[in-house]
This record gives sequence, C-alpha cells and structure tokens, in this order.
Amino acid sequence: MSKVTVIDHPLIQHKLTIIRDKNVGTKEFREVVDEIASLMAYEVTRELPTMDIEVETPVAKTTQKTLAGKKLAIVPILRAGLGMVDGIMKLIPAARIGHIGMYRDEETLEPVEYFVKLPEDIDQREVLVVDPMLATGGSAVMAIDALKKRGAKTIKLITLVSAPVGIEMIQKMHPDVEIYTAGLDEGLDEHGYIVPGLGDAGDRLFGTH
Ligand code: PRP
Ligand code: URA
Repeated sequence: MSKVTVIDHPLIQHKLTIIRDKNVGTKEFREVVDEIASLMAYEVTRELPTMDIEVETPVAKTTQKTLAGKKLAIVPILRAGLGMVDGIMKLIPAARIGHIGMYRDEETLEPVEYFVKLPEDIDQREVLVVDPMLATGGSAVMAIDALKKRGAKTIKLITLVSAPVGIEMIQKMHPDVEIYTAGLDEGLDEHGYIVPGLGDAGDRLFGTH
C-alpha cells in the first residue's frame, strides 16, 4: 500500500496556514506555494542515492559524498501543479520536466485529460508528480495512469493538501506510489472541494477567478 508521509515541519505548516487564508492574494499565494514546494523537495529527496568521490580541500585530500546522479523528472498536473515546479527545481536543477494537462469536470468531478508531454526517457527516471490538491484523487490517478502507460516505473506524488478519500484512492489504484503531503484535511464538501483546504488552487495561483 502507498506509503503516506505528512511533512509536518513547522516552516511548512506555518506557510501552509498562510495560503489557506482566503484574504491572501495571488502574488503572495504563488510565492508561498513556491517556498513550500522547495521545503517539501528537501524531504522527498531524502533517500536519493549518493556515491563517494575524491575532493581536495585547501587542507587535504578526502573522500566525500556526492549525488549518484539518479535521473529525475518533475511532472506537474496542469494547471495548479505548475506552481510547485520552480520551488522543486531550485533543489534539483537537472531534473527534466513533463506536463500532464487535466481538469475536473465541475458536474461529475471526473478528470479530463487534455495534454501529455513527457521526457523521452521517462521509463528511466524517478518521477515526481506535483499537484497542490489531492481531492477525490481522480486527477492524480489518471495522471499516474498516463505516466505508467508511457513506461514510468518509480513515481512519487507530492501534494500540499490532501483529503483522506484521495489518499485512499491512490492507495487502491496505485499502491506502489508514495505520497508526500503537507496537510491531511478532513474531507470534501458537496462540490468536491477539500475542507478546510485552500479553495481552488489553480484560480488562486493564476488569478483567474
Ligand atoms: C484541481 C487540482 C487537481 C484536481 C484535484 O485541478 O489542481 O488537479 O483539481 O481534484 P481531484 O483529486 O478531485 O481530481 P482543476 O481541475 O481545478 O484544474 P486547474 O488546475 O486547471 O484549475
Ligand atoms: N481542486 C482544488 O483546486 N481545490 C480543491 O479543494 C479541490 C480540487
């Protein structure tokens, strides 16, 4: 079953509380999402493999650790996932970026896929799927389906706020996918919004509503 890590670092919790506030405008929302994504990336990359290399300091030769060069891909679910890409890229600048376009039909809450463009060698990369919101889980499940169909094997899902039902959905449909989230909320309202959540992440990031 998918491992779930709730990253409860005080800085992350503090920043998540800031963006939950409905009075926070687009500029600050975008900046703080970016900061949280960076902080989460620190935890998500905790188990990246390292190897020994020789380095000569001004004082002596020594053997020290360096990243073993694992290939990574960051794949935002459009639109809102875009808000998390730069923050993660700050820590792993060599990562390749894929895009999966998906929106939720407002009536049925079913996801609709409209765009997929991934690095050619996605089958050889560890994939970080990013989306601020995991509500019913439909969008993330479909995005992971799209990735697996194209050969992706190792996938992690990184979200800011998750509903229990969304987590259960991933665990049921993609038990191999690890989930990292900054907030595990109470549930969904009648419109499929996470409660208490932070509202419509895409609209708040891009100022479209
Ligand atoms: C939001 C969010 C997720 C999805 C979560 O996207 O960014 O992708 O809803 O809901 P689910 O878990 O019930 O599928 P939205 O459909 O609003 O599209 P947008 O990012 O383009 O605004
Ligand atoms: N999508 C959002 O942007 N917010 C929610 O609360 C649920 C889905």
